[in-house]
Amino acid sequence: MKHTDIKIVFETADLIGKEVTVCGWVRTSRDSKNVAFIELNDGTTLKHLQIVIDKALDLEYAEALHLGTSIKVTGEVVEARQGSVEINAKEITVIGKCPPEYPLQKKRHTLEFLRTMPHLRGRTNTFNAVQRVRSVMAAAIHNFFQENNFVYVNTPLITGSDCEGAGEMFQVTTIGYTKDYENEEDYYNDDFFGKKAGLSVSGQLEGEVAAMAMGKIYTFGPSFRAENSNTPKHLAEFWHVEPEVAFAELPEIIELAEKMIKTVIGEVLEKCPNEMKFFDAHFENGIIARLEELISNDFGTVTYTEAIELLKNSGENFQYPVEWGCDLQTEHERYISEKIFKKAVFVTDYPKEIKSFYMKQNPDGKTVAAVDLLVPGVGEIIGGSEREADYDKLVEAMKTREMNLDLYTDYLDLRRYGSVPHGGFGLGFERLIMYVTGVANIRDVILYPRTVGSIR
Ligand code: 4AD
Repeated sequence: MKHTDIKIVFETADLIGKEVTVCGWVRTSRDSKNVAFIELNDGTTLKHLQIVIDKALDLEYAEALHLGTSIKVTGEVVEARQGSVEINAKEITVIGKCPPEYPLQKKRHTLEFLRTMPHLRGRTNTFNAVQRVRSVMAAAIHNFFQENNFVYVNTPLITGSDCEGAGEMFQVTTIGYTKDYENEEDYYNDDFFGKKAGLSVSGQLEGEVAAMAMGKIYTFGPSFRAENSNTPKHLAEFWHVEPEVAFAELPEIIELAEKMIKTVIGEVLEKCPNEMKFFDAHFENGIIARLEELISNDFGTVTYTEAIELLKNSGENFQYPVEWGCDLQTEHERYISEKIFKKAVFVTDYPKEIKSFYMKQNPDGKTVAAVDLLVPGVGEIIGGSEREADYDKLVEAMKTREMNLDLYTDYLDLRRYGSVPHGGFGLGFERLIMYVTGVANIRDVILYPRTVGSIR
């Protein structure tokens, strides 16, 4: 169907006075005595294109006034108010009719209501804007790494080893419910891979394998977590950006994370001005100014031990008590970034007991070279570390956690054959989108959210 994107119609001054054909879905319509108006959107831009129908022309337009109808319009591009353009219709064709039970009749629907129809909510301004920002951010992430000599690798989604060791893997099996097996071992022997398999919670372990050959790599794909966390920031399937760098220690990993976040946000501000104005007006007043401030200042840095002291001395009555050794909860993370630092802040050197087995053990014997990035409004968006590069120390940490070393032979080999200091981090892509758009629930920044108790 030959037609022009509505975005191009708005952006190309040369089209004024010329005839174009546009396609789209009817967002609103108005019928008056001599003219009818249609606001048309084709998804290429947030702005709707006004179609003006002169009734003297006797066009067949009655069906085209119904919300949700898909139409094709040919007409002349003319100047409109406020430097915009509209189309004087010469020909209107209904492509797909839309009956009155089409659910998006109102101008504004709640996000909760829209969550019940993931297949239609993309046709609202909010989801239109979110998806476009998401797409620009994804491209910006790829560009950032490509321009900095990182190799994009695709790590396996089905895996035999639990990276985070937190037991949050979805199981992959082709057998399913049966009473045919007396024990787990017999079951898994008979299963597709001949052993227990699951969906990967992180591509890090294989990312390390790739970094030990290519030097600097990144992954950008889905991770899966069977966490029983019904919160506004947890998905069972989320998109994960995981760079891994050889010959790097923790400070370089922190520097990389800050540079990446600033580059991606800078690009969104530059390439999505209309979408960002929309979020500023409807989701978080002042968000553009805050993001601009974020990218022009250094992020904060604090050790876990210092952060605990700051929280304890804050006088704040937290739901979860604060003691050295406790895991930071969202309320603590947000307090640190929103109230204490008032900006994005890296928290480093966590107690080894609350972090994963692979993190480099610090000389104090108590902490590991971990880093989380906390941002106002969301909390943690990045988790990373320098990795333990010493074979003996790694084995010891795994044994302390009673891990099955046989499942990690490849990983351990990396420490036997030319081991080097290295590290990386994982960015939760949806959490960054939440931060950038001000959309408060992670279910609203992904096309089809998968959460505990809910799949469609
Ligand atoms: O802190 P996490 O668990 O770290 C890892 O997975 C490391 N292997 C990453 C690495 O070093 N390569 O997860 C990293 C990030 C979190 O900071 C968070 O932003 C996101 O992944 N994340 C989730 N996002 C949405 N829903 C969930 N259930 C998430 N779990 C983690």
